[in-house]
Amino acid sequence: MARRKKIYEGKAKILYEGPEPGTIVQYFKDDATAFNAQKKEVIDGKGVLNNRLSEFFMTGLAQIGVPTHFIKRLNMREQLVRQVEIVPLEVIVRNYAAGTMSQRLGIEEGTQLPRPIVEYCYKDDALGDPLVTEEHIAAFGWASQQDMDDILSLALRVNDFLSGVMMAVGIRLVDFKIEVGRVYDGDFMRLIVADEISPDSCRLWDIETGQKLDKDVFRRDLGNLTDAYTEVARRLGVMPKTS
Ligand code: C5P
Repeated sequence: MARRKKIYEGKAKILYEGPEPGTIVQYFKDDATAFNAQKKEVIDGKGVLNNRLSEFFMTGLAQIGVPTHFIKRLNMREQLVRQVEIVPLEVIVRNYAAGTMSQRLGIEEGTQLPRPIVEYCYKDDALGDPLVTEEHIAAFGWASQQDMDDILSLALRVNDFLSGVMMAVGIRLVDFKIEVGRVYDGDFMRLIVADEISPDSCRLWDIETGQKLDKDVFRRDLGNLTDAYTEVARRLGVMPKTS
């Protein structure tokens, strides 16, 4: 078989040219990184779990009318997705204080926020993805005002969906990050959810015990990351099959 053309290799995923124009194969690696790749480890099985979990979340979003890049899962580690023009923003939604928000504002981790708070970071590894305001986004032309309205609406719909799905299995959605991309259907441009949604990009705490079931297990050396992600998959009924 001909070698596929690698388009991009990131910290946790590799993108290959897809079989049809406008498609991409997204490969999930086992690599875990934190603190802008200052901490790195290979974690057996993480890629398989994230491939399956991202499929589950993206499929659920599509069912409630939230457009995503997901087309289909190809195998244990790969999924076929639509090629998008990625908006250079990390869109973070927070329901409870944690992580950098707690550090920045001195709010104790786990404090419920008065309402979901959406933050934007400029996607730039060399700069460590700095927090930016809508002023920066507009002034530097990273997204238009219409894009920002659409991004906010997508982010809040993803939050409602994910919060509900996780709550149903006894997990609190503390916060998460999404990325969005532009797709062009003829002259018409629209924004869709891209990248991945997985315990790598969410904070998930057991509602009863507060146990962390997300990448903080790795960031903070709290135990076995695969066990945590497997628990999320088990509760959601999406344990990876062997095909
Ligand atoms: O680190 P911070 O508290 O800002 O992260 C907020 C949320 O966004 C967390 O769920 C984290 O996993 C996610 N995130 C991410 N990728 C980044 C930064 C944050 O998935 N580069």
